[in-house]
Amino acid sequence: MTEEIEPILEKLDFRVEEYGKNRYYFATFSNHELVIAYSKIGKVFSALSASTMIEKFGVETLLFSGVAGAIGDLKIGDLIYATKLAQHDLDLSPFGHPYGFVPEGSVFINSDKSLNLIADEVASEMGVKLQSGVIATGDQFVASRERKEWIGKTFGADALEMEGASVATVCDALDTPFFILRAISDSADGSAEIDFDTFLIESAKISASFVMRMVEKI
Ligand code: ADE
Repeated sequence: MTEEIEPILEKLDFRVEEYGKNRYYFATFSNHELVIAYSKIGKVFSALSASTMIEKFGVETLLFSGVAGAIGDLKIGDLIYATKLAQHDLDLSPFGHPYGFVPEGSVFINSDKSLNLIADEVASEMGVKLQSGVIATGDQFVASRERKEWIGKTFGADALEMEGASVATVCDALDTPFFILRAISDSADGSAEIDFDTFLIESAKISASFVMRMVEKI
């Protein structure tokens, strides 16, 4: 969402290029050439953006910043990065496959260990609490205790959102190291849409400023 990249863009001088009905922002920061984009919501748009960034614009490392719904005991504003990700709405179970699995694929995609390590270092330098865990992705805004508990149980997931696993799938296929960071905006239950509207901007800022500290360290 635009709210998730605005805190990054406001710190940078950038130029804009349009491609595939979206905008990509180019800036130099801390000795890196950055390409910044919000994809629009969901797995298809985020896969398109990740592919474009890598294949068209030559991105070598992909850092994702945004917000998520909590599954376990995470609270609004808490930061979590994904050690692995799965698509919770991918269902070939009638053919005997586990949820999240398609033939020649895998339920989970692992994120890059060295980027995760950098995140741990940044967190301890900043004195910020940073958790890690499984993030589940689907083309649904989850606002039901029952659905979130199913996702938590089925995938061992700690947070859920709508783009991480699709970006992970693209990066894995294209051999591009990636890091997925989320700040909690809601608890994915009956009050999710109210909390999301209230906390989106604040949580997006927390995630964005952490990712920019990582860029400085990379
Ligand atoms: N991103 C932030 N909160 C979410 C929720 N409850 N469901 C899906 N994606 C989200």
